[in-house]
Amino acid sequence: MLFTLFLLLPIISSALAWIPVEDWGSGNVTSSVGSLGECVCHVFLPDTTFPADRLQHMQEVSKDLIQEVQIQMNKISSYEEKLESNLRELKGLLDRVTIMGTSADDYVKLDFELLRIELREFESLVSQLKDAFNSSSPVFDSLYTEIRNMTLIVNQLETYDKSNLEVIRFQFVKLRKKLEECQKEQEFSKPDIGNCNHTGIVRLSKPIVGQLNSHLQPGYIYGGWGKDSKPIKGSESMYFYSGYSSTTTSHFYFYPDYKHLLLMSSSGYIEFPAGYRGYGNNYIIHSNSVYYQRSSPFSMGKYNLTNGAYDSRVIPTASLAFSYSYSSYQNLDFAADEKGLWVLYASEESKGKIVIAKIDEKGFGIENVWNTAAYKQMTGNAFMACGVMYATRAVDLNTEEIYYAFDTKSGEEKHLSIRFPKFQEKYSSLDYNPTDQLLYMYNNGYYVSYYVKFDMA
Ligand SMILES: *[C@@H]1O[C@H](CO)[C@@H](O)[C@H](O)[C@H]1NC(C)=O
Ligand SMILES: *[C@@H]1O[C@H](CO)[C@@H](O)[C@H](O)[C@H]1NC(C)=O
Ligand SMILES: *[C@@H]1O[C@H](CO)[C@@H](O)[C@H](O)[C@H]1NC(C)=O
Ligand SMILES: *[C@@H]1O[C@H](CO)[C@@H](O)[C@H](O)[C@H]1NC(C)=O
Ligand SMILES: *[C@@H]1O[C@H](CO)[C@@H](O)[C@H](O)[C@H]1NC(C)=O
Repeated sequence: MLFTLFLLLPIISSALAWIPVEDWGSGNVTSSVGSLGECVCHVFLPDTTFPADRLQHMQEVSKDLIQEVQIQMNKISSYEEKLESNLRELKGLLDRVTIMGTSADDYVKLDFELLRIELREFESLVSQLKDAFNSSSPVFDSLYTEIRNMTLIVNQLETYDKSNLEVIRFQFVKLRKKLEECQKEQEFSKPDIGNCNHTGIVRLSKPIVGQLNSHLQPGYIYGGWGKDSKPIKGSESMYFYSGYSSTTTSHFYFYPDYKHLLLMSSSGYIEFPAGYRGYGNNYIIHSNSVYYQRSSPFSMGKYNLTNGAYDSRVIPTASLAFSYSYSSYQNLDFAADEKGLWVLYASEESKGKIVIAKIDEKGFGIENVWNTAAYKQMTGNAFMACGVMYATRAVDLNTEEIYYAFDTKSGEEKHLSIRFPKFQEKYSSLDYNPTDQLLYMYNNGYYVSYYVKFDMA
C-alpha cells in the first residue's frame, strides 16, 4: 500500500541527504518492492564519523513504522483512499524541498525544518487515525514514541557537518527520483470520488479535529471553512476560512493547503465592502466563486474570486423567519455535491419546512425545487451529497444525528438515525465536499471534519 510510503519516504530520503557524498556512490542505493508491496530503498552506509548508526536506526524505525501503519491501515482499508489527499500534500512538500533553497545555508535550515514538519504531520495523522477509527491499540502509542525518537535524531543530525551542500543536494534529488520511480511501479487504488452508485450515507467517522480557527479566537464561534467543491486548475488544494464573533460575513481567508491552514499561514484574504456583506455562515466556494446569503437585499449572493464580480438573486418565497437551531440568520444554506449547486431555505408556503432548490450555475437562477418534511428550526444544519439532502439534529451535548434524508432523484424521503460524535455542542456550518467526500464542520470555532461512508451495496 503506497499510502504509508509517500508519507515516510520523504523522511528517510531527507535524512539520507546528509551523508557526505563521497562516502556513498549511487551504485550503493538500490530500490525494490518488498514482500508487503512496500517500496524498499537499500542504502549501504559507510563507517565514518557521521552518525551512520543512528541514521540506520532511524531507517529501521521508519521501516517498522511503515509496517505497523500498514497493519493498521489494512484494518481500515475502506477508508484508506480518503487519506490520499493528505499524502499528496506531503508529497508536494517534498517537491518544494528540491525547488527551494538556492543558497546552501537556506537549504540546511529549510530541510531540517521541513523534516520536523513532516514528523509533526505524521504524528497528527496517526492521531487522526486513532481518533477516526476508535482504536485503542497499543500500536498507536508505540508509533508516538518512535516519532518522538525520530525527532530527537533529526535534531542530532542537524549539528553535524554541513559541507558539500550543493553536491549533497544533487544526490538528494537523484535519490528522490529513484524513490519516485519505485513508487510508480505500484498502482494506487483510486477512491470512488464522484461515484453516486450507492444507496446513501451509512455512517460518519469520528471527528477529525483540526484546531481552533486561524484567528485563535475562541469567541469566533460563527464561521465556516472548507475547500472549493469544483476547484479551478491550480487551486485544488486550497482551503478557505471565515470566522467572526457575530453572524456577519465579510472576510474570507485563503490557504494554499491544509498544512498552511493549520499553521495559520494564509496566502491572502478578501473583504466584502459594506453593501455586499452577508449573514449566517452557510456559504460555500464553488468554481472559485463564493456563494453566500447576502443581507441587503436579502438574496443569494455570489462573488467571483477570479474577476471580482458580485452578483445576486432574490428568491421571492425564501423567508427570513426560519433559521437552523444553532445560529440565527441562517436562511439560505448553500451546498454543492456531485450533481451541482443547491440552496436550502424555508418559506411561509412550506410552513417552515426545508425547501431544496437546484441552482442553474450559468444563469444563477433556480431551475427546480423540492419540498421536504424537515422543519428547518428543528434542524441543526443540512447538506447535499449525490442529490440527497441530509438533515441533522442534536441527540445530546456530544452527539448529533442525521435524522432525515430526501432524495431529489426519486422524491423519496427517509427517517434515519446516523449518529456521530461532536467535538463541541454547537456548529455554524456543515458542508459536504464531493472532491474529497469529507464533511466540513465549523464547530464552535474549531475546524472539524468527518469521513463519509456510503453504502456501496
Ligand atoms: C558499495 O559499498 C561497499 C561496502 O559496503 C563497497 O565495497 C563498494 O565499493 C561500494 N560500491 C560503490 C559503487 O560505491
Ligand atoms: C470504541 O471502541 C470501544 C471498544 O473497542 C467500544 O466499546 C466503543 O463503543 C467504541 N466507540 C465508538 C463510538 O465506536
Ligand atoms: C530511541 O532511539 C535510541 C537510540 O537513539 C534507541 O536506543 C531506542 O531504543 C529508541 N527507542 C525507540 C522506542 O525506538
Ligand atoms: C451500479 O450498481 C449496480 C448494482 O451493483 C450495477 O449493476 C451497475 O452496473 C452500477 N453502475 C455503475 C455505473 O457503476
Ligand atoms: C468568474 O469569472 C471568470 C472570468 O470572467 C469566468 O470565466 C468564470 O466563468 C466566472 N465563474 C463563475 C462561477 O461565474
